[in-house]
Amino acid sequence: MDPLQRLVAAGRVTEDVPLGPLTTYGLGGRARYVVEVAGVADLSDAFAFARSHNMPIVALGRGSNIVVADEGFAGIVLRPGPELNHHRIEDDGVVVAGAGMPLPLLARESVRAGRGGLEFYTGIPGSVGGAVRMNAGCHGSETSDVLRHALVFDATAGAAGHRTPADLEHSYRHSNLGDTDFVIEAEYETRTQEAEEGERLIREIGRWRRQNQPGGTRNAGSIFKNPPGDAAGRIIDDLGLKGLSRGLVSVSDRHGNFFEAAPGATAADMHRLVIEVRERVLAETGIALEPEVRFLGSFA
Ligand code: EPU
Repeated sequence: MDPLQRLVAAGRVTEDVPLGPLTTYGLGGRARYVVEVAGVADLSDAFAFARSHNMPIVALGRGSNIVVADEGFAGIVLRPGPELNHHRIEDDGVVVAGAGMPLPLLARESVRAGRGGLEFYTGIPGSVGGAVRMNAGCHGSETSDVLRHALVFDATAGAAGHRTPADLEHSYRHSNLGDTDFVIEAEYETRTQEAEEGERLIREIGRWRRQNQPGGTRNAGSIFKNPPGDAAGRIIDDLGLKGLSRGLVSVSDRHGNFFEAAPGATAADMHRLVIEVRERVLAETGIALEPEVRFLGSFA
């Protein structure tokens, strides 16, 4: 059997899959293939198939930081399968979680088990794999503060190995992981903590988010990374760009660094608005904002 046949036989691959429903924005077209990864064997097969067919391949988590092109993605999208949704808390307090584990759920489960340190994940609607990849953070903590190491498959080496935050070169919203890497699971250091203390922190973060960020709408969190010493949301707000729109996508009235997509919006509108805001900020302040959201597929 060739690699694709093996993936098909194992029930891991679906062809011609709408990607919008797999992202928080709900925008964009279809992927040629989606592979639900259980472990290293699937990754070896998927990357071998991509190589032999010269096809692009990317990892997707919970889709909370991505905009898929309206034309879709003519390649392979790797997603953590149900086997990678696991988590366990070891006797020494180390929390082990699969790449597909939702961060808010991991935060609650750790708190419930009397472990502290992962509460900030309650404010991030992504997955463990995505958090390792972009060093996700909020409320004064980031992934590199709590990560012991992550198990990462490296397609160029054809093997998986452990990487510490130093190996990953974690910095603000950055790691050195690229399209030939796939995060399989992560191990976190936590501290002993009364469950009530953790629950209090989680409630506080929830309250703050409800007050400061648009909720219940289709968005992908912050659109741009914050420039050193400033906040993209403040800059966009100060320039009076809240409410600016392209098609059915607009800068949130609640927070300048959140863009909202109304039903019927297109990924092209989203891309146009990101470019427009970036250009206006550059022209008026000289600051070149760097997008935090990822664009998948081709954009004009
Ligand atoms: N501000 C304005 N106008 C706005 C929005 C913000 O003046 O429209 C001001 C605020 O008053 C504050 C400053 O800008 O003084 C910073 O805003 P905020 O406290 O909302 O935090 P942020 O820098 O916009 C960052 C993360 C968020 C994270 C929060 C809380 C980035 C790019 N964003 O937002 O992360 O939830 O802090 O910790 O670092 C994400 O990455 O997707 C994300 C949501």
